Amino acid sequence: MIVPPLLIVILAAGLGVRMRSQRAKVLHGLAGRSLLGHALAKAQTAGASAIAVVVPPASPEVRAEVLAHAPTAAVFEQPTQAGTADAVLAAREALARHSGDVLVLFADTPLLEGATLLRLVAALRQGANLAVLGFEPDDPTGYGRLIRDERGRVTAIREHKDASAPERSERLCNAGAMAFRVPSLLDLLGRIGNDNASREYYLTDAVALANKQGLCVLPVVCAPQEAMGINTRAQLAEAEAIFQRRAREQAMREGVSMTAPDTVWFSYDTKIAPDVTIEPNVFFGPGVEIAEGAEILANSHLVGARIGAGARVGPFARLRPGAEVGPDVHIGNFVEIKNARLEAGAKANHLAYIGDGRVGAGANIGAGAIFCNYDGYNKHFTDIGAGAFIGSNAALVAPVKIGERAYVASGSVISRNVEPDALGIARSAQEVRPGWAAKFRALVQNRRKNR
Ligand code: UD1
Ligand code: CA
Repeated sequence: MIVPPLLIVILAAGLGVRMRSQRAKVLHGLAGRSLLGHALAKAQTAGASAIAVVVPPASPEVRAEVLAHAPTAAVFEQPTQAGTADAVLAAREALARHSGDVLVLFADTPLLEGATLLRLVAALRQGANLAVLGFEPDDPTGYGRLIRDERGRVTAIREHKDASAPERSERLCNAGAMAFRVPSLLDLLGRIGNDNASREYYLTDAVALANKQGLCVLPVVCAPQEAMGINTRAQLAEAEAIFQRRAREQAMREGVSMTAPDTVWFSYDTKIAPDVTIEPNVFFGPGVEIAEGAEILANSHLVGARIGAGARVGPFARLRPGAEVGPDVHIGNFVEIKNARLEAGAKANHLAYIGDGRVGAGANIGAGAIFCNYDGYNKHFTDIGAGAFIGSNAALVAPVKIGERAYVASGSVISRNVEPDALGIARSAQEVRPGWAAKFRALVQNRRKNR
């Protein structure tokens, strides 16, 4: 069967007033990515041949976010927020040049799964001209209700505000994704008026109009957790909780051990191999990958970090973007790593800052060692050879290179390279004064007596 090309139109131009935010609603984050980013990723997994995104006017941040996730998407501004049908029409150019199926998605339903969208589009293959995604929320307040006939076809969608009491008792609600295979979507949308409680052009009115034209509108039902729409900050937090619960369950199914799963926070792209152990209160920001058998101990914070097999990180470790922790590396408490690679078996067990550098295999970074990577203007690189030993409280002033198996004496400020197998020491020489403490004691005691 030849599958017609699919245009996905994402609506992201709503004002989001209920968020009470200076920032566009669709830029608010869930699991380390904006709501808009979630919608765009989903459009890609649903097999879009083209993507059009409708954004508010003069919103460079929203536009930039679209292009960051989907560089080939077409972006259209909706001049005034006159409703969801008006928003789809803002992308009329994309609709006019497309021949095939159209899927309209809201950018504020981030938990919808790609597979669900595929089912929605598949309904078009099974005879629907219009397929509407429905769900049964615990609390249907605010959602449009799917009104069905005795054959189960959808005859209309009634917005909550406009619904009569019997219509409100309908449990099946509009999730906000709709698939169209109609002679002309532009024509259908052009007929929608704004004679309703909000004075808005409702996309949902397309259903009753399609029925008038003798078209078949079928519902496709998905799980309520998937369909949740984000209009308020409380709903955003609730969606985050749902996302986290799913991510934790999935990780455990895939062989990850967590002592207290409810206290471990995942991002949309966290990748954890089997037999990884995670202690309580661990946060994974975007871009974290952990290989088999690694252990992440309590209270660690990781963003953009890769952890090798069998490595041990934490407790209280902070790994920032570009941290690459090799196999069997040990990272201990209060160690911060940024844009630096630690090769197999290297150790930094206590209180260190490792920024912009490389630590060779088996090297040891002592307590309190600091990579002084920043001069106030630029970042510089520190390179530590395999098997080197960096004594406690050493300051390595980058750019600097410590050779293989070299030593750096504790407390040194190292600003010149140290060659392999050498000792770098840079601190004032120690002096020992025999008997000084005894003399001092005698002096103090003598003064006390004479007081
Ligand atoms: C909408 C649906 C409702 C459904 C619910 C699911 C309509 C009329 N109502 O209601 O049936 O149950 O979603 O969550 O479609 N947008 C624009 N331009 C506009 C208005 C909205 O781009 O002029 C975008 C918003 O950014 C958002 C989406 O469309 O992504 C939905 O708009 P919103 O105002 O949140 O609709 P709801 O009242 O939630
Ligand atoms: Ca909404």
